[in-house]
Amino acid sequence: MRSKVQNLKYAMPIIASLICLTMVLALKLPDLKIDNESTVSHALLANGEALPKHARPNALPEQIQQGKDLVFKGRTIGPDGKKSKYISRFYTCTSCHNPIREDPSVASFDPQSRLDYAQKNGLKFLQGSTFYGIANRESWYNDDYEKKYGDLVKPARNSLAEATQLCAKVCSSGRYLDDWELEAILAYYWNNQLKIKDLELSEKELNTIQTQKSKRESIVLLKEKYAVKSPATFGYSPNQQDLGFEGIKGDPKNGKKVYELSCMSCHQDGGVSGIAFTNSKLDFQKFKRSIGKKTDYNLYDIVRKGTYAGQGKPRYMPLYPKERMSDQQLEDLRAYVIQEAN
Ligand code: HEC
Ligand code: HEC
Repeated sequence: MRSKVQNLKYAMPIIASLICLTMVLALKLPDLKIDNESTVSHALLANGEALPKHARPNALPEQIQQGKDLVFKGRTIGPDGKKSKYISRFYTCTSCHNPIREDPSVASFDPQSRLDYAQKNGLKFLQGSTFYGIANRESWYNDDYEKKYGDLVKPARNSLAEATQLCAKVCSSGRYLDDWELEAILAYYWNNQLKIKDLELSEKELNTIQTQKSKRESIVLLKEKYAVKSPATFGYSPNQQDLGFEGIKGDPKNGKKVYELSCMSCHQDGGVSGIAFTNSKLDFQKFKRSIGKKTDYNLYDIVRKGTYAGQGKPRYMPLYPKERMSDQQLEDLRAYVIQEAN
């Protein structure tokens, strides 16, 4: 009988060559397969980037469904088997955010392309950014939102979970989410990610990412192809409202789109605002008369400042940053209102 030591002697070369083979394979073969249907986070992971804190790769289908219910309906069946409490009595998340893709290019936040895309695809044109790809972003409540929410944006800026809590409580005039609800919404976001096919990569670019040979380059390349944050620049009313924005001429045809896909999505019977616009001449005349005046129907002020929730008045209207409605579009809206008033 051979001793154990002798056995080891025979096994050693075999073990050594197995280790070598594995190393060669590890160097040669990509770790994870990437194709057009892969999520962006999968491609980043394969190229060596760690998953973000809000990643929920092991979420159960039931959780994703709960998250979807919470986003679309404001409530779901909770872990106790009962209907959960509404997050907000006044809104659902989809009152202010589209749940699906809303930009023709996921790399751009151009409001006019978004408006045309909304019209083509039957979407609303809203103040809140889309939930599609929200898990692929890296900061939230960006730029000028600090002016509106102050210190509240500090935790929200670097955490999708905190951003969601801020919106559930403050922006939706609602309440903070329970842990299981937050988990469900994070699971829903994770399942609603950008895909490689959305990035419109060239064949060469796709190949670079797939082979996973130049990982750092692949990560930079990927992140140039989609917006890693939703920028927010607050606009102002024109200096002389009667004259409008200097050098901008309004196009009533485009203004009609803004009015119908944006304003009317909330201001109609059954909409989230208590004020329903009727499309009557009287409504448009009210807007027209209010230009340049300090009244509730001042178009410039309502778009750029929104309204604030107050005591006994929990409903409010979010303002539109320029990335969500440009000065040109605002001038178009004015041109439409004036056309309809006359
Ligand atoms: C009354 C309108 C309104 C409602 C209702 C609302 N939001 Fe928002 N939300 C906003 C606005 C406006 C912003 C800031 C702009 C933006 O989306 O980037 C925002 C921002 C966010 C952000 C950060 C987005 C980013 O990229 O900066 C998250 C996350 C979010 N909301 C989640 C939710 C969830 C979840 C719900 C439902 C529970 C909800 N919101 C309901 C208006 C709303
Ligand atoms: C996301 C929903 C939403 C959208 C989109 C929206 N509004 Fe509002 N708006 C509200 C809410 C909520 C109020 C608060 C009044 C209420 O319903 O109690 C309000 C209030 C107003 C008021 C009354 C202001 C006041 O001080 O009472 C006007 C005028 C108005 N909106 C115009 C517009 C116009 C014009 C647009 C399109 C550019 C628009 N809204 C888009 C939800 C919305």
